[in-house]
Amino acid sequence: MKVLITGATGLVGTEIAKQCQEEGISVHYLTTSKDKIEHKNNYKGFYWNPKKGEVDKNCLKGVSKIINLAGSSIAKRWTKENKKVILESRIQSLQTLHKLLSENNHTIDQLVSASAIGVYPSSLQRLYDEESPEIANNFLGEVVTKWENEADKFSDLGIEVAKIRIGIVLSEQGGALPKISKPVKYYVGAPLGSGKQWQSWIHLEDLAGIFMHAIQKNLEGVYNAVAPNPVSNKKLTSCIASKMEKPLILPKVPGFILKVLLGDMAAIVLDSQMVSNKKIEASGYRYKFTHIDLALENLV
Ligand SMILES: NC(=O)c1ccc[n+]([C@@H]2O[C@H](COP(=O)([O-])OP(=O)(O)OC[C@H]3O[C@@H](n4cnc5c(N)ncnc54)[C@H](OP(=O)(O)O)[C@@H]3O)[C@@H](O)[C@H]2O)c1
Repeated sequence: MKVLITGATGLVGTEIAKQCQEEGISVHYLTTSKDKIEHKNNYKGFYWNPKKGEVDKNCLKGVSKIINLAGSSIAKRWTKENKKVILESRIQSLQTLHKLLSENNHTIDQLVSASAIGVYPSSLQRLYDEESPEIANNFLGEVVTKWENEADKFSDLGIEVAKIRIGIVLSEQGGALPKISKPVKYYVGAPLGSGKQWQSWIHLEDLAGIFMHAIQKNLEGVYNAVAPNPVSNKKLTSCIASKMEKPLILPKVPGFILKVLLGDMAAIVLDSQMVSNKKIEASGYRYKFTHIDLALENLV
């Protein structure tokens, strides 16, 4: 099997490419940076510029699956300009791929596209599954809805579409964990807001494993990619501190301070999403890391 990955040079893509290599699956990838292009036997890079709709069509040779991860990071202040880049980078990436496939002969039968659990409205009580119709009434809700709608358009080309709603990714390489563990290391870590908000986390190895499972089992439709046991922000922070053998001496950081410091983007740390993993588990995916203790033992 040969897979084309967009955003392969990022946190999630690097782990997926590694697991592909381990399973003997060849990778083609599209990158917006010419200096990230490599030409190894089973790992070949191709240039694209979704903003201009440019893409090297050689990336399609021999490929049957596309994993789409490309998008400008959401972890930056949500100014009007940054919001535009966050949304447009995702839409234009999918539009560029769609145009490429509609104008060229190809052998693609499936698109597995990244999405996010930020689509679900913040709630301390509700357990969300893939059938939950509610959409968060904020910027993330808007981005995810438009992103998933754009991915759905590939079914017009006879391509099966799977959308993987990613939770809070835990990895020592990037994402949430280093951002939480750094203040803990310097004795200034603390739960955020009420600390009661649900954090539906997933270990990076399991997230990449779910993308691999999706291409190997030809999954179609929406799947949440979270571990089976979400935890509160307070529990997550205290577990990290305990693994690092550091005390948590400061009180919780009040939500209004985070809103002043981070603006609308404070939603990323203050919103609460308790998300079900039942559907992906029922499809046959077996987790490596089901409990936060085990995941942090491995990472911290
Ligand atoms: N990590 C999380 O906790 C999390 C949670 C929910 C959803 N997600 C989503 O999952 C996807 C992968 O996450 P990640 O953590 O691996 O992200 P990441 O480390 O930021 O990597 C994303 C990749 O997208 C490409 N990219 C950046 N700006 C772009 C632009 N303007 N146009 C086209 N491509 C661009 C870059 O690759 P090149 O430089 O090679 O082009 C980059 O390596 C993202 O779309 C993210 O929103 C992540």
